[in-house]
Amino acid sequence: MKRALPPAVRQLGRTAYEFARGSLVDAAEWASGRRRPLTPPRRLWHLIGSGRMDFHGSGDLLREWLIEQGMTPDDRVLDVGCGLGRLAVALSGYLSPRGGYDGFDIMPPVIAWCRRAFAAYPNFRFQLVDVKSRRYRKGGAAQASAFVFPYADSAFDLVFLGSVFTHLMPDDMANYLGEVARVMKPGARCAISYYLMSPTRRAEVERGGGVLSFRHRGDGYWAEDASLPEAAIAYDDAEIAALFEALGLEIVARYDGQWSTAPLHSQDVLIGRKL
Ligand SMILES: C[S@@+](CC[C@H](N)C(=O)[O-])C[C@H]1O[C@@H](n2cnc3c(N)ncnc32)[C@H](O)[C@@H]1O
Repeated sequence: MKRALPPAVRQLGRTAYEFARGSLVDAAEWASGRRRPLTPPRRLWHLIGSGRMDFHGSGDLLREWLIEQGMTPDDRVLDVGCGLGRLAVALSGYLSPRGGYDGFDIMPPVIAWCRRAFAAYPNFRFQLVDVKSRRYRKGGAAQASAFVFPYADSAFDLVFLGSVFTHLMPDDMANYLGEVARVMKPGARCAISYYLMSPTRRAEVERGGGVLSFRHRGDGYWAEDASLPEAAIAYDDAEIAALFEALGLEIVARYDGQWSTAPLHSQDVLIGRKL
């Protein structure tokens, strides 16, 4: 009988493949002069998604969509779990000197690249924070459930979290959402992606066709992989709405992703406004 490879071995194989493939594509782009400025090395892309993603195209779409949500060039923007600065790159020619971007993440290589790449952009700042994650940084020191964001109260006009709460356990996510609310100015907006579960969603995933099924029920969440819930976590739609309300965040818009009906990792997004 054929045995499945343990997840750790599969992950190692995938990392080695992405590293080799990414290095080759990077070299070809450098040699042909086709490389766009502020493009992170492809060998790092797998850390935040896939080596084949459209890094610039998806960032540009995100910027245009955030403008539709009310972002302006003078905004102070916080990007929690900023990864390789997909949003920062897209905002590099957009934010005015009065505006500014702050991003933080727990992975040293992504922050090292962002800092080097944005050295000539004084209003783009990146911080590495030493927080533990079973998915992204096993050796981190602080618990996300007690972590205090390194920013003053009411500092930001817009807080963005793209594909971050889909990897945080309930206590961690609740503390981070409280911190998001704390650092938002009154009237500021947050745009946060989730996998939101509801009876309709449950029926959809049971019909099949979606990219995720969240078969494993944990305490206050659903997980795709019971042995590593942080790989992909879904939350109860109504419970998240109640948490927003308790923190003084009014949900002003919601966008349904296609993760439950199509083979796409397209997530749900909530837009909150601080009262
Ligand atoms: C799927 S990637 C998304 C990256 C980026 N937001 C984007 O859209 O390109 C998830 C990111 O969240 C970061 N992350 C995970 N747990 C975190 C935590 N507790 N605090 C801050 N960042 C975290 C990871 O290191 C990773 O860069």
